[in-house]
Amino acid sequence: MKLRSQQWFDNPDNPSMTALYIERYLNFGITREELQSGKPIIGIAQTGSDLSPCNRHHIELAKRVRDGIVASGGICFEFPVHPIQETGKRPTAALDRNLAYLGLVESLHGYPIDGVVLTIGCDKTTPALLMAAATVNIPAIALSVGPMLNGWHKGKRAGSGTAIWQARKELAAGEINYDEFMDVATASAPSVGYCNTMGTATTMNSLAEALGMQLPGAAAIPAPYRERGQISYETGKRIVDMVREDLKPSDVMTREAFENAIVANSAIGGSTNAPIHLNGIAAHLGIELTNDDWQSVGHKIPLLCNVQPAGEYLGEDFHQAGGVPGVMSELLANDALPHPDAVTVTGKSMGEVYASAKVSNADVIMPFNAPMKAAAGFINLRGNLFNSAIMKTSVISEEFRARYLSNPDDPEAFEGRAIVFDGPEDYHDRIEDDALGIDETCILVIRGAGPIGHPGGAEVVNMQPPASLLKRGITELPCIGDGRQSGTSGSPSILNASPEAAAMGGLALLETNDKLRIDLNTGTADILVADDILEARRVALEEAGGYQYPDHQTPWQEIQRGLVDQFDKGMVLKPAVKYQRIAQTK
Ligand code: FES
Ligand code: MG
Repeated sequence: MKLRSQQWFDNPDNPSMTALYIERYLNFGITREELQSGKPIIGIAQTGSDLSPCNRHHIELAKRVRDGIVASGGICFEFPVHPIQETGKRPTAALDRNLAYLGLVESLHGYPIDGVVLTIGCDKTTPALLMAAATVNIPAIALSVGPMLNGWHKGKRAGSGTAIWQARKELAAGEINYDEFMDVATASAPSVGYCNTMGTATTMNSLAEALGMQLPGAAAIPAPYRERGQISYETGKRIVDMVREDLKPSDVMTREAFENAIVANSAIGGSTNAPIHLNGIAAHLGIELTNDDWQSVGHKIPLLCNVQPAGEYLGEDFHQAGGVPGVMSELLANDALPHPDAVTVTGKSMGEVYASAKVSNADVIMPFNAPMKAAAGFINLRGNLFNSAIMKTSVISEEFRARYLSNPDDPEAFEGRAIVFDGPEDYHDRIEDDALGIDETCILVIRGAGPIGHPGGAEVVNMQPPASLLKRGITELPCIGDGRQSGTSGSPSILNASPEAAAMGGLALLETNDKLRIDLNTGTADILVADDILEARRVALEEAGGYQYPDHQTPWQEIQRGLVDQFDKGMVLKPAVKYQRIAQTK
């Protein structure tokens, strides 16, 4: 078999180009004989850097990946990926997902790489790298950096993000001071690795395994554990064989694999960012995955993982209890994994790989027949507010669930008075404004927070009630928005509304004090305002130049705003999805 890299390094039909390609790569001590020996050249797409602390440990792990590549007879070329740090990048790291995707597509397509190790971890690094692997379609294997160790504060588990959201409420209610608040925050992040809660990072790393793109068990091993170095070595060894077997992303990430991942997402209590990213990865493979699929495949699946924010444990506990293999074995044993035949990067099927896995702590990964919560997947809503928005049912309180969701004999819709904010600044400026008269009958709505309105989409839908309500013990109001919600937040929000206000979706027409009706049983969400009035509002808004949002701050913000699709379509760059399997074209 002729390797792709040999078009660069061993092409006697074009000696001058071959010479130019080969002479500079000899600079780091490799010999011409090695480059022309027919050994697979394996890229390590390196996401770790000082700008990306969650993934920084990949700089260490890459050494073990390299050892594995060499042990299997490959040659390693490590190269950087555009940094994406969830907690560091302004205005939002989600803006950079598609930028890192574009950069990695160019690197994989334009350089002599036969296979690639995708170093995933912090939230958007996982989808960015899987999307690029999908587009280029050379053999690829993902490697998580692993979660941080458990965080502890005053003898209790303190989870990334979740501990901050909780302490923020205590700070607002005057129960703790600023220094105590900062102590909780730093205690929740005790080591290298990604967020130790079931936020977007743990979700996406687990789903990368459930899709079949990581070695079994590779998702959940905490970053500092010795096993993390060992699985890095195994990953390096395996990618070389995947090149020899020509096992490509399109062989692994099939429609069936995505359905398996949706089921796994319900079972782990995964983040509401997952549909955006999985729909996006699928789009780059030419697979149409919709939020209806998330409901039809995923909603009926129970929540097994007792991990924050839906439960009490953290990433280290999840790993020790069995991690993703434990969850998959529980799903398999109960015939709940729809496609056990789906192939993984091992070359073996899900069923073969996971059937013998064990759950060693049923407090952390609960039995399928005695779960944390029944039917815990997402619900997809639609109406005159939007065409699609999702709700994570695993974090809905028991009272709310019993009243509005779990009683088919007496289905009840909830209604509320809308309090509308235009973007996060407006929310911060006005949430304490007494003139709004916010009480427990209100629904907080935020718009201007979608892929166009707030480029990349803002994680702002989990809005807190005003201090007056918090002091009365009302810590949550229903929230709706065209933005996202941090995966580490436990709020019962309706989010990722598509189309967003900035694309003239129904949210753009909403006014404060309008009545809203949300029916989770029929999956509808509507403004209770007559059609002709809504139409008049639309005409007036269009005449005024449409829904207004802040100016672009960077060239990329302008480029992405012009090309990006909505959340329900994976927030992909629309022109990019037609480029598929481009490694196979000359
Ligand atoms: Fe990087 Fe959570 S902030 S993983
Ligand atoms: Mg996040």
